[in-house]
Amino acid sequence: MALGYMPLTMSGKLTCDAALIRSEVKAIDLTGKTAVVIDVLRATSTLATAFANGVTKVFPTATVEEARSLRGTNRLLGGERGGVKLPDFDLGNSPREYTAAVVAGRELVMTTTNGTAAILASAGAHRVLLASFLNLPAVVAACRRLQREVVVVCAGTQQRFTLEDAVCAGMICQALTGVRAEEAVDLGLSDGASLVLALAEQWQGRLEEMLQSCRHGRNLARLGFAEDLTYCSQLGLLEVVPEYSQGAIILSEIA
Ligand code: MLT
Repeated sequence: MALGYMPLTMSGKLTCDAALIRSEVKAIDLTGKTAVVIDVLRATSTLATAFANGVTKVFPTATVEEARSLRGTNRLLGGERGGVKLPDFDLGNSPREYTAAVVAGRELVMTTTNGTAAILASAGAHRVLLASFLNLPAVVAACRRLQREVVVVCAGTQQRFTLEDAVCAGMICQALTGVRAEEAVDLGLSDGASLVLALAEQWQGRLEEMLQSCRHGRNLARLGFAEDLTYCSQLGLLEVVPEYSQGAIILSEIA
């Protein structure tokens, strides 16, 4: 029997919807909901690492020009185009560059092709949290504290669906709803949520293998970033929850 799509189930579990690529966000009403933005390779993994290593605030921008215009004292410029660092930027988009020695106590301006764009596209939500495998349990705990309906937003790559974001989205939906893919639609979850749940079940326990075989993972390995795939596959390595609010990303107080 279909139970309908309710903000909270009888057992107190949260319901979860999924935007499979960034452009789908426009079709979802985020009002009053928690948006969880995911760009496993690599923007949200990099941002979680930067905050774990002491970055104080991050200004995400859609364009390179805007990032350059925000240059300032004690601020680093980070990000990529085509996966590689811009020549006049301080940092690229590899999480392994964002060590405490480099970023502690600093502000950061960040622009990436898909990740920062997905964050900005989700601004209409009640709260906007940033997730990757690295900080997935911390984000799940924050969503539970907020007790709002959750929309997981997969950044994708170049307007295309990406497996790695969908698997991470599915693991978050799984943890929040306790629902299995085969029962998701009957329980009132969306088709998108049903798909990401199925992918999470398919790749359970094989995150590094999945990152090495997905399209963007193979591209990054070709560019010399194979070690980033191993790093980004570590589930729950970091306790931080970055949160976007009013133009800046800060360390969330919910976590
Ligand atoms: C993006 O935002 O498009 C990605 O983070 C690209 C990358 O892996 O550098």
